Amino acid sequence: MAIQHKYIVGNWKMNHSKKSIREFFEQLTTPAHPNIQRWIAAQALHLDLCQGLAPQDVKIGAQNSSWEKNGAFTGEISADALFEAGHHFVILGHSERRTIFHESDATISKKLQVALASGLHVILCVGETLEEQGAGQTEQILSLQLQSSLGHISAKNAERLLIAYEPVWAIGTGKTATAEMAQATHHYIRTSMNKIGLHAAVIPILYGGSVKPDNIASLLACPDINGALVGGASLKAQDYSKLCSAQ
Ligand code: PGA
Repeated sequence: MAIQHKYIVGNWKMNHSKKSIREFFEQLTTPAHPNIQRWIAAQALHLDLCQGLAPQDVKIGAQNSSWEKNGAFTGEISADALFEAGHHFVILGHSERRTIFHESDATISKKLQVALASGLHVILCVGETLEEQGAGQTEQILSLQLQSSLGHISAKNAERLLIAYEPVWAIGTGKTATAEMAQATHHYIRTSMNKIGLHAAVIPILYGGSVKPDNIASLLACPDINGALVGGASLKAQDYSKLCSAQ
């Protein structure tokens, strides 16, 4: 079955307070376009609050989870605990985790296995840096990131997998890949996933990096772009609502 919806995933990163979250949901009064799924990734401490305040259709998720199921791992976030608490998804492999927290492809691969086994949906982020893009290595980097994380997942678990293509040079910089560039890269990602043995036609691929209300429509119009992972523009209810009414 083809992908039915477009996904607008807000990545709030380490932002918001209990007060501003209350205000966000009070102001989120415009219903989403019927074809759009609204997902929001909040800080771990805010997940339950979001779950309580969000409209029914909004799915709440985390921004990280551990590669271990449980045990003596002080400070880690357990995927099983997230799932048990009723949260829907986790973002893994975000470039901030890769760069600032030194997460390797091997670590991300372990996290992915454990999170999928817990029952969570997983958004796996991939993307090249400015230097890698400049050196013409985008496809090589993406292949490596995809292969190392997705080589071992079962077809059943892949039903809960989404990919986010986020060129690192476009995150928080105001620079976006043009819709044509993004479409070409998404197509490459889909082809690569097929080669790995996954049924890529049913795996949503989201674009991320400076997505805003004024560029969302051209991105969503591309056949291989199934939604967006949005940082800055997801923090205000008005902007997030605009993103979720685009088609
Ligand atoms: P941005 O962040 O929309 O602020 O560029 C995207 C992300 O990091 O997921």
